[in-house]
Amino acid sequence: MIQPLVTVRHFRDDPGNDVQDGYDLPDGYVGMHSPWPRPRRRMSGDGRPPLRRPRGGRVVAEHGEATSGGRGLAKRHDETVVREFSKQAETFGDPRLNTAYTRHLARLVDYMEPELDREDVVLEVAAGTGLVSRALAHRVRHVTALDLTPAMLEQGKREADRDGVTNVTFTRGDAADLPYLSRSFTLVVCRFALHQVADPEAVLREMARVSRPGGALFIQDVIRPEDVAADPDRIERLRDPSHNALLTRARVTELVEAAGAEVKRTETFDHVRPLAPWLEQARTPDDDAARIRKELEAELSGGPATGMRPCMVDGELCFTHTNLLVHACAP
Ligand SMILES: C[S@@+](CC[C@H](N)C(=O)[O-])C[C@H]1O[C@@H](n2cnc3c(N)ncnc32)[C@H](O)[C@@H]1O
Repeated sequence: MIQPLVTVRHFRDDPGNDVQDGYDLPDGYVGMHSPWPRPRRRMSGDGRPPLRRPRGGRVVAEHGEATSGGRGLAKRHDETVVREFSKQAETFGDPRLNTAYTRHLARLVDYMEPELDREDVVLEVAAGTGLVSRALAHRVRHVTALDLTPAMLEQGKREADRDGVTNVTFTRGDAADLPYLSRSFTLVVCRFALHQVADPEAVLREMARVSRPGGALFIQDVIRPEDVAADPDRIERLRDPSHNALLTRARVTELVEAAGAEVKRTETFDHVRPLAPWLEQARTPDDDAARIRKELEAELSGGPATGMRPCMVDGELCFTHTNLLVHACAP
C-alpha cells in the first residue's frame, strides 16, 4: 500500500496568471522531508533482458523527430544545443527571466510526490542546471543530473555547492545513449527536453531501459496543442535555434508506450508567459526578437496565426505554452 505523503503546496496554482516577473523558487520543498515511513515501490529486479535499442544511429529530419539512418543531422543538432545552452547557462535559474522553470518546478514536484521515496536513486535526463534534481535532492537518496551542455552542468554544480546540496552528481552525457547499465535507477525524470532533443523516441527508450522494472518515469514538456493549426516551432526556433519540435500529447504518450512503459497519469495546463523575458533568457538576437514581437502583435491585430497564442496582460505582450505532465511505470 502506498501511504500518502504530506503535500505542501508553496505556490499559487493559477497557471493562467503567470505574467508577473520576480517569482522566487518556492521556499521549503528543498530539504522537505516526509514524516511518513514509506514502503518501497515494488521492484521485481528480476533478470529480464534490457530493452533493445535499434542499431544504426539516429538522425533528425530537418527539425523533426528522428528517422533511421546516420548520425550526421543529430550530431549537428546536438552541437547547436550545446552552443545555445552555453549562452543560457548563467541566467537559467533566474526566476525573473525563467518563470516556467522556476515557479512551476513546485508543480512537478507535487505531481511526483506520491512516488517519491527516501531510498530513491534518481536520474534526471537532459537536466540542464539540475533545477529538478536539486529540488528532489533532499527527498531521495541520490540524484544524477545528466546533460549534454557542460556550461549548464557547471552552473548547476556551482549552485548546488553554494546551497550545500551534496547528493547530486552532475554528469555529461547524451540522453539518447545513456552511459548506464539497464535497471540502474528507481525513478527517472525528464523536464522540458523532449522538444529539444534530436531523438525523443530514443530518449524515452533509454529512460525506460535504465529504470528498475516498476520504477516511476516522469516527463514534463511543452506540447503542441491539437487545436492550433499554425506551426509554433517556427517562432520557437527563431527564438532558440536548438529547439527541435513540439510533440502532441498523443505523440508523447505513444512514445512512452512504445518504450514499453505504462502511462499512469497525465495532466495538462496552460501557461501564459510574458514575451520579453523569454526572449532575453535565450539571448535571441535583437532583429529576430523584433520579428517575433512584430508577428505576435500582427496576430493580435487580426494577422496570420503564429501558433504562439498571443495575448496582452496588463499592457504586456504574452504568449501561451501548453504543458504536459506524464507519470508512467517502467517495464
Ligand atoms: C530547456 S533545457 C531544460 C533543462 C532542465 N531539464 C530543466 O527543466 O530545468 C533543455 C536541456 O536539454 C539538454 N539537451 C538537449 N539535448 C540533449 C541530449 N541529447 N542529451 C542530454 N541533454 C540534452 C540541453 O543541454 C539543455 O540543458
